[in-house]
Amino acid sequence: MREARVAKSHNTHPMLWFALTFTFSAICLPTSSAQSKAGDAEGPQWWRHAVFYEIYPRSFADSNNDGIGDLNGITAKLDYLKDLGVDAIWITPCFPSPQVDFGYDVSDYENIDPMYGTLADFDRLASEAKKRNIRIILDFVINHTSDQHAWFKESRSSRDNPKRDWYIWRDGKGENQPPNNWLSTFGGPAWKFDPTTGQWYYHYFYPEQPDLNWRNPQVEKAMFDVTSWWYQRGVAGFRLDAVDTLFEDPELHDNPVLPGKNKYGDPNTANVNNTKLPELHGVLQRLRQVANQYDAVLIGETWTKDIDELKHYYGEHSNELQMPMDFLFARVDKLSPAEFRKQIAGVNAVGWPVYVLSNHDIVRAYARYGDGVHNDAIAKVMAGLYLTLRGTPLMYYGEEIGMTNNDPKRREDVKDPIGKLGWPKEKGRDGERTPMQWDASQNAGFSEAKPWLPVPSSYKTHNVATELKNSDSILNFYKRVLALRHENSALREGEYIALNENDPNVLSYLRRYKDEAVLVVLNMSASSQKVSFDLTAQGLTASKATTVLTTGKANRQAASLRSVSLEPFEVYVGKIEK
Ligand code: NOJ
Repeated sequence: MREARVAKSHNTHPMLWFALTFTFSAICLPTSSAQSKAGDAEGPQWWRHAVFYEIYPRSFADSNNDGIGDLNGITAKLDYLKDLGVDAIWITPCFPSPQVDFGYDVSDYENIDPMYGTLADFDRLASEAKKRNIRIILDFVINHTSDQHAWFKESRSSRDNPKRDWYIWRDGKGENQPPNNWLSTFGGPAWKFDPTTGQWYYHYFYPEQPDLNWRNPQVEKAMFDVTSWWYQRGVAGFRLDAVDTLFEDPELHDNPVLPGKNKYGDPNTANVNNTKLPELHGVLQRLRQVANQYDAVLIGETWTKDIDELKHYYGEHSNELQMPMDFLFARVDKLSPAEFRKQIAGVNAVGWPVYVLSNHDIVRAYARYGDGVHNDAIAKVMAGLYLTLRGTPLMYYGEEIGMTNNDPKRREDVKDPIGKLGWPKEKGRDGERTPMQWDASQNAGFSEAKPWLPVPSSYKTHNVATELKNSDSILNFYKRVLALRHENSALREGEYIALNENDPNVLSYLRRYKDEAVLVVLNMSASSQKVSFDLTAQGLTASKATTVLTTGKANRQAASLRSVSLEPFEVYVGKIEK
């Protein structure tokens, strides 16, 4: 197995994360029969039935052969996505940007960066997607802009500029001394001195990403207007970037210092005064009201220390985010049925779950869970898990073909600035952002030019064209599970009922909706297993399941519930008749 670099949050300090995770494990979550309701007060909504797919536009498909992906590239691949079973695509920022943080430094919220195309290209993408019933979700970089945004240029120009208060400006504590001890999550102080006006501005991320001042109502209005502008252009929702960091303590109290240093060599701190301030929930509630006018969905990049914190992002009256991502699930970095059971039960108790295995900030799931021997089988187990759970799955491009991480080997090859700053402890996020592997030709069919990041050598076997031809491939497995999910209401809507909760190797559960029941059995171990099920407590007396999907070699039409034999890392899905 490769180096164990695990899922990382760039919004939560690693030490703090450890302390909080430890506390979380000590809290008693419901471990017995984790049942959840089939619906909630909102009733079924389109986003509950949809399968979402994240596209990192630089790396998906390059239509003009400049080595960088673009919108026309995405349009050309819509049939592939439809065929795969995708209902909505989330495109990470494609707006004009100096690209310091590869688009997460936006210099104009209402346009497309020329490297990705034009607004006309976007409109064509939107209309072609609509023809295929694929919705488009854009990324809303809500916490900060680029330092090249016109708002910031004005803000920094003079202390009495009308936009001065759109950002967070303060005097230093003394000469060359920032206003307090807050640190950027990307390394170094979170304050930068600006000689033009002799004050410091605050940036939670890179210095080129100044934080907006969300206490200023003009900022809120301008940013909310951005969302309406895109809704009117046909966008179906937003993924909200870095929502945790919208507000800061106006009195700028220092953060408590913890023992040790982080990977950038800075002291560890508990970011209690500049992350997760309660005021952010008011913004989310009001942003939701705008979204509601367009039946749009809000997805949150919600790094939480525990389920209670995640619960708050849904809002007390389901009036904040419909889809806060559950990163606690992605944080389970081993094939542990017990850990997954705990996390699944936890999120089901608080809201409609949103599952993610990896994304452009998190090491690919293939690399995290793979044991170096059964990687493809394990990739199917993970798909068999989160695509059959109650909740909405959010896939990451390339996951469906078993793309792996390709981390840089030398500092000079790193593109992501945090990888340069934190080398070698932090290698940056290039490894999970490499070009989509379309075929076995040069550059994996992504581009005729040298791609902006190198493709891993696995592209020769793990690519769309090759896998489409192999019925046993990861890609064809994804297609089968997604097709099943779309046609089967128990999988889409049904309650989640944990089974055999003491089994240390096999994760099993029932999905139940009205008269339909589906049994999912996942062998998370490298050895064969035998399991039996007694479903009488669920009012089901059937003695066998009718096989609907399995990765096992035995050609079983049905399985006796008294004894289901499983191959190593087998996925078994069967229907149970009432
Ligand atoms: C979270 C994004 O996913 C990440 O890629 C980005 O660097 C930070 N937010 C800052 O916008």
